[in-house]
Amino acid sequence: MKKILIVVLALIVLVAGSAFYLIKLKEPVYADSADAQYVMQNITADSRTSRTIVWQSRGVIPKSYIEYRMTGNQNSSQIEATNIDFKTDEGVVHKHTAYLSNLKPATKYEYRVGDDKNRTNWFTFTTEAEKVSNYKVLIFPDSQCADYGVWQRLSSAAWERNKDAVFFINMGDLVDNGEQYSQWRAWLRAISGMVSTIPAAPIPGNHEYYTLDWKATPAKLYENLFSLPTNGTEGLPNQTYSYDYGDVHYVVIDTQAEELAAFDNNIYERQVQWLEKDLSKTNKKWKVALLHRSPFDWRASDAPNTIGKSFLPILDKYGVNLVFLAHIHSYSRTVPVKNFAPANKGTVYITTGRSGDKVWEGSPRKTFDEVFYNPLDQPNYLTLEVTDNELYVRAVKQDGSIIDEVHIKE
Ligand SMILES: [Fe+2]
Ligand SMILES: [Fe+2]
Repeated sequence: MKKILIVVLALIVLVAGSAFYLIKLKEPVYADSADAQYVMQNITADSRTSRTIVWQSRGVIPKSYIEYRMTGNQNSSQIEATNIDFKTDEGVVHKHTAYLSNLKPATKYEYRVGDDKNRTNWFTFTTEAEKVSNYKVLIFPDSQCADYGVWQRLSSAAWERNKDAVFFINMGDLVDNGEQYSQWRAWLRAISGMVSTIPAAPIPGNHEYYTLDWKATPAKLYENLFSLPTNGTEGLPNQTYSYDYGDVHYVVIDTQAEELAAFDNNIYERQVQWLEKDLSKTNKKWKVALLHRSPFDWRASDAPNTIGKSFLPILDKYGVNLVFLAHIHSYSRTVPVKNFAPANKGTVYITTGRSGDKVWEGSPRKTFDEVFYNPLDQPNYLTLEVTDNELYVRAVKQDGSIIDEVHIKE
């Protein structure tokens, strides 16, 4: 009897053990068998000759590498990445960054990352041509979510329809709580195919500046996760920067003075000085500015707020053609605006909508709006197509239906 009991007990232990083993095996196995994960490209100031690749590893990797080669070429080059560790609410993240320079324009490359033992699968990217007359950019409004499946479905629909996009912009409030690392993981995992193939060009929103208990704080995780051009306002890394693509100069402005007030109290003054220098240097035909918050009062009036009073004169002075905005989760497009009023020739302001699951029913149509649409029914994205003679913007719902389209000429 005792023997039978022992055999039964042993069987139970064996079955339970193999069940546990099976469960263990079911843990996600990354396609990239190396320790590397969340491989992404970040925009650089000049996409003809450079590209930044960022990834993370699950463990401490003393030496990490990127290996890259022109597609079709068997000989690859290798450079060592820069490693930093940063703290999150889920423990330490090990981040690796490699800046590839002296690349050949209009060339398809393959790259993979890893350490001394393991490498990921090969990914690809294509550098910008020396002269580009036609290209497309994907633009995503606030992607903050309670369920990042919503962001995953919206971004996948946009990417599937626009595989010819050369980079993508995120308009801030990428996640709902900037200090909650699980949200960043979900955000990155949702776009793994796109962000390993074309560069991300994110801008910060106020939700990147909240602690887990919703107090304002500098956007440390946002700053740490990305490696964006370092040509912005001093002391505001990844928060302000500029870059060129084709005949367009893009500038990123941080509109979070309210959240930063206790930490850094003159971010608009410093950005205005930077913007003056930055915009005066460019000889690009088109200028596009990216701001999370609107420069106009959030109510129906279009009176300039602090952001508007700070930045509108300089956007006017340098003839910025188009400004993309976010934050209020509705879509709108103004008539051309100059000197704080509608004008025949001026800047068009497009508030981009929402690509996550947060909606705001109270978002008002405003006096300068030529088009207003509150995407309560489904999330949306935008495409910007740049040609020799126009900036062509389309706002598209997840199901492919068009909210708005506009051709902006010089
Ligand atoms: Fe938002
Ligand atoms: Fe916001």
